[in-house]
Amino acid sequence: MSREQAVPDVQLFQGTVAHATAACAAEVLPDAVLVVERGRVTHLGPASGLTAQLRRLDAGAEAVVQLSPHQLLLPGLVDAHIHPCQYPNAGLALDLPLLDWLQRYTYPTEARFQDEAFASTVYAAVVDRTLRNGTTCASYFASIHRPATERLAELCRERGQRALVGKTCMDQQAPTNYCEDTDQSLQEATAFARGQLARRCPLVLPSVTPRFAITCSERLLAGLGQLAAEHGLHVQTHVNETRNEVAMVRRLFPEAASYTDVYRRAGLLGPRTVLAHCVHPGDDELTLLRDSGAGVAHCANSNASLRSGLCDVRRLETAGVQVGLGTDMSGGYHPSVLDAIRTTLHTSNVHAIYRDDYQPLTFRDGLRLATLGGAAALGLADSIGNFEPGKQFDAMLVSLGGDDSDVDLLTPHSPDELLQKFIYLGDSRDIAKVYVAGREVHSRTA
Ligand code: GUN
Ligand code: FE
Repeated sequence: MSREQAVPDVQLFQGTVAHATAACAAEVLPDAVLVVERGRVTHLGPASGLTAQLRRLDAGAEAVVQLSPHQLLLPGLVDAHIHPCQYPNAGLALDLPLLDWLQRYTYPTEARFQDEAFASTVYAAVVDRTLRNGTTCASYFASIHRPATERLAELCRERGQRALVGKTCMDQQAPTNYCEDTDQSLQEATAFARGQLARRCPLVLPSVTPRFAITCSERLLAGLGQLAAEHGLHVQTHVNETRNEVAMVRRLFPEAASYTDVYRRAGLLGPRTVLAHCVHPGDDELTLLRDSGAGVAHCANSNASLRSGLCDVRRLETAGVQVGLGTDMSGGYHPSVLDAIRTTLHTSNVHAIYRDDYQPLTFRDGLRLATLGGAAALGLADSIGNFEPGKQFDAMLVSLGGDDSDVDLLTPHSPDELLQKFIYLGDSRDIAKVYVAGREVHSRTA
């Protein structure tokens, strides 16, 4: 069955709906009606409008999915930075700082993705695991191998996950069995991007993926900048993750004014660019990010697990930078964006513990950053991130307190409290259904 056939013409939901808007970090609508037509949201309003919607759609009451008092409809989660080729290491090998961690554990694991059968098994597990955890859109940082990365993109299409997929490019400062020749890297990146564009699948788009400045020559970066400009492609890389890394980039790129400026000079900064981490930026770099429209994927679990530093999301957002959340698995040990929300809130609390003037982020900010924030950081906020009419219906139906749930509901809770319970205590067992562009891509009961 093709994707199109699987998307119902009309879907109607009545019950508690919550989402972030430009005006509100997390608006909780306790008795709402949400209408989806051919995979797109066409109406969100109070339940009093249900009869008029049914009349307009020529539909009967049986067409309405009635949410129970313990259910919530939320936008799907956006993982703005994840390394699916590091999944075998998730929860392992967190005893070294970034640059040693890459050489000792990460490059050897990624080198194994030359084996397409191995890659296929791991990538299928990642797509399934993240979908059941509510990740409706992921920015995937795959290995340097084109065939394996093509298989990842195919799995996303098959299983219906929205994704930006990148074949990683690196031509220096890496082991010989996990490093590319500059021309070959450019050729493979170009072939990957063109191959994906030729499929004309709006759900899965190629992303130009220089690993980070340290492992990329200036010629490779410039060539990738040209490739991105030629096709208007998304771009993803890392920036300012650790102090040692920042110092090394200064030595390798003495002409650049800053780490972020290395990417600007290569033509890699724009509204479709997402930079992971950005823990240690100068104010001039935040200005560059704001002015170019590039986003940051805040990877709080990774920043703590590899002891890279405490990113200040408030500072980034106050400077006008778009911020979303990334699991950065396996630098971050958990593949779920719920974990990214919680570690983000803990990092923010650590700032507040040390600084009297610091206003910590709230669970509402957490939901916003993981949905609308991620969409904006990836340059996708026109089509996903919340339930405003016109957006794609990427969503999860949360059902709290089921038989195998770890969330005990012992007293009556308001819709707002149920959202808090889910953000702090929920997991995949509380996510009953997941939808991408209106298609049901995961069901706990199926
Ligand atoms: N910087 C360059 N490569 C990586 C990676 O794989 N993970 C993290 N956390 N940072 C990086
Ligand atoms: Fe990363």
